[in-house]
Amino acid sequence: MRPSHVLLERPLRCLGRAGIMLRVSALRLLERILGSRVSLLDYTCLRLYSSGPLGAREDAHDARAYFTTPIFYVNAAPHIGHLYSALLADALCRHRRLQVASAAATRFSTGTDEHGLKIQQAATAAGLTPTELCDRVSAQFQQLFRDADISSTDFIRTTEARHRVAVQHFWGVLRARGLLYKGLYEGWYCASDECFLPETKVTWQPGPSGDSCPVSLESGHPVSWTKEENYIFRLSQFREPLQRWLQDDPRAITPEPFHQAVVQWLEEELPDLSVSRRSSHLHWGIPVPGDDSQTIYVWLDALVNYLTVIGYPNAEFKSWWPTTSHIIGKDILKFHAIYWPALLLGAGMSPPHRIYVHSHWTVCGQKMSKSLGNVVDPRTCLDRYTVDGFRYFLLRQGVPNWDCDYYDEKVVKLLDSELADALGGLLNRCTANRINPSGTYPVFCTTCFPRQPGLVGPSVRAQADDYALVSAVAALPKQVADHYANFQIYKALEAVSSCVRQTNGFVQRHAPWKLKWESPVDAPWLGTVLHVALECLRVFGTLLQPVTPSLADKLLSRLGVSATERGLGELYFLPRFYGHPCPFEGRRLGPETGLLFPRLDQSRAWLVKAHRT
Ligand code: ME8
Ligand code: MG
Repeated sequence: MRPSHVLLERPLRCLGRAGIMLRVSALRLLERILGSRVSLLDYTCLRLYSSGPLGAREDAHDARAYFTTPIFYVNAAPHIGHLYSALLADALCRHRRLQVASAAATRFSTGTDEHGLKIQQAATAAGLTPTELCDRVSAQFQQLFRDADISSTDFIRTTEARHRVAVQHFWGVLRARGLLYKGLYEGWYCASDECFLPETKVTWQPGPSGDSCPVSLESGHPVSWTKEENYIFRLSQFREPLQRWLQDDPRAITPEPFHQAVVQWLEEELPDLSVSRRSSHLHWGIPVPGDDSQTIYVWLDALVNYLTVIGYPNAEFKSWWPTTSHIIGKDILKFHAIYWPALLLGAGMSPPHRIYVHSHWTVCGQKMSKSLGNVVDPRTCLDRYTVDGFRYFLLRQGVPNWDCDYYDEKVVKLLDSELADALGGLLNRCTANRINPSGTYPVFCTTCFPRQPGLVGPSVRAQADDYALVSAVAALPKQVADHYANFQIYKALEAVSSCVRQTNGFVQRHAPWKLKWESPVDAPWLGTVLHVALECLRVFGTLLQPVTPSLADKLLSRLGVSATERGLGELYFLPRFYGHPCPFEGRRLGPETGLLFPRLDQSRAWLVKAHRT
């Protein structure tokens, strides 16, 4: 990099933010300042040292990001809800990696929550020791996440030694700060949800033997009366600090309705929280340091996992902690948005940077549960719909703000129409040998498609709709980035899908199959139509990488886009249109490797069979 470039880093930083049009003007401005022509390559170099939401290259420290999923209970096998949380986190993390060049800048953890009464009871019921149950089910989660291409950098199990060290240290800090006291705790406890409940959150329902049993109003799970001496955390002291935190950072909990829900909870009373149980009652857990008669409450134990992963209590955790984004389901919002930030503040740390909350998958309108026998097995889904197909379905159909209903026909319909027909069809139409016999990235003709809309002339072929397509696709990366930032990944996919439809319309409108390469009149326009369509496909492929990594790889490889040309910082859409060289023009396309995504409805025998039974 030449010294003049370094000097110009700052002005460019500002200019880089406004997107492609502005970046091109930045290039021109730069030329004027330097008094010489600046190539796109120089400019790309420069952007490596500048930042902005499109390129989003920040200095190494700002660039860090740490994503987490909940750690899942090992009382039962994973279902599609667990996979959904992991996929949301995976997509956020992969999108981030497309923005930030350094692979070391992102961390992404998931894992299993293995202690507590729930697991202790599940092991007894299964005739296993808790360790056997934990090993077995934790391995299922690990296998599922590997199979589903979850790109986590850490898998934590709360039964690991490193975690015990972190939890006991964290406990010691709270105690040293005078935030724990011993007292008599009396109230309802729900083992399934591992939580204490006030009288107002308990109702009575007929149990299996007909007599009335107390259950949690929220989850419907049975509760039991508990009265014992425990360690208690001074949660009530944190009501105001928590309110201030949420007021100062309105995006701390995203999407907004969940932020509001927490604000409302904080308007109610916030009693102190029991954070240990008698070991005679709960032996499967981490002992309170210095008091073996008590076991640490499983939620305190579980929440600290987020610190264990980044090395707590060693100082290295400090550089990662402020960049933390938790991805969670709405069922555990109170633990993450009230208990956890209060515990962190109590231990002298800041609350998490972001808490991204999603709603639940239901099945044919019903809550998914083991007792109803309607749990959807994610393994079967990955086999039936392919890994990328099922990833696309969950992320395209899952709406964080509301519950979503799952059924098989919905998956088939969506994947056939959006991946097989629209996207796969578009690629095939524009790369097939009969339409592009040279097998190269065609040349764009600026006379056929001038930068200025509305020009007339014998060789001008582009129409108003074509300009609309170009601006829609040019705006897409920024739009997608904004949707990711708001945790609305389905909207990002909706936007991509809509542009795919628009591009198909463009191809349909100009029917390149009716144009002839041999005709000197047709050829420049034929090349231009294909060039524009491939440029659109290159943008779609790049933007789909976080959701469908293999499919996007196949698409980009077919277009001849190399591994170093797939980041968002390098995504210069249609540079020829803006008066710049296009590195792809004339390049050989990648080899033809069959359909991008085969239609599913031809292989639906299992669906018919499933319906008969
Ligand atoms: O609560 N739809 O673990 P858990 C979507 N160990 N997501 C769902 C879902 C559904 N139907 N069901 C579950 C625990 N999830 C604790 C967490 S974290 C420190 C400790 C997802 O096995 C969703 O993310 O019950 C939910 O929050 C999580 O699984 C609960 O998993
Ligand atoms: Mg649960």
